[in-house]
Amino acid sequence: MYIDVHCHLTGEEFETLGGVEAVIRRAEEAGGSRMICSGFDLDSSIKAAELAERFESVYFCAGFHPSELKKYKKGDLEEIERLCKSEKCVAVGEIGLDYHYDDNPPKEMQRELFVEQLRLASRLELPVVIHSRDAAQETAEILEENAGLLNKGGLMHCYSYSPEMAERFWKLGLSFSFGGTSTFKNAKKVQESVRRIPAPLILSETDCPYLTPEPFRGTFPNEPSHVKEVVKKLAELKGKTVEEMQTQIRENAARLFPKLYERR
Ligand code: NI
Repeated sequence: MYIDVHCHLTGEEFETLGGVEAVIRRAEEAGGSRMICSGFDLDSSIKAAELAERFESVYFCAGFHPSELKKYKKGDLEEIERLCKSEKCVAVGEIGLDYHYDDNPPKEMQRELFVEQLRLASRLELPVVIHSRDAAQETAEILEENAGLLNKGGLMHCYSYSPEMAERFWKLGLSFSFGGTSTFKNAKKVQESVRRIPAPLILSETDCPYLTPEPFRGTFPNEPSHVKEVVKKLAELKGKTVEEMQTQIRENAARLFPKLYERR
């Protein structure tokens, strides 16, 4: 059984693959038992909730991604909160900091909405899914200052920082998911992080439609059925068999996202 804890299935990209329904079926046939479709603004969070309604294997999280805050309007967080109360919403996300591009939303605004959504998760007793790019230090500082809000834990998704930074995050009780980048030949730092992070804190994702793993690297769109390539790499880096890694990830996912396994 494979679990893709972070994917984006709400865009138009999958039309070339026969549509999102075909993509979800293909993932299920490849052994995919659960997919968490991540919202990144209000519209995508609403669409993620709709997909979760339609497909048994699809769950979702709702939240505002730091790069998408230009669209943010007063009242949107109330809508996000309403979505988070759905039976199939497993977390608040993806939220965080992204300082990669100069024209990203102002840092001040990113920090404010990040903390605001940490508060929301804490109040709703949900974990958080965190996106952090080129902002390792500040992400760690904000999380350390607000450690009390991480009462249900959280996930550093598509983790790309050093093993030393990882230690700061796991001391806060956070887990880590890895996607296609961990399979790339030149991804030495990411692979070192996988080796050093304790196995009970590791999860698998695709972040599709982006970051297609080897051996499919260079094709677009990426899709959840490719998560098995990621799990294969994680198993190799942790010195486990694929079956052992699958079992480990299943346990880790059940601990972090209990709502994934509450329904029958
Ligand atoms: Ni994402």
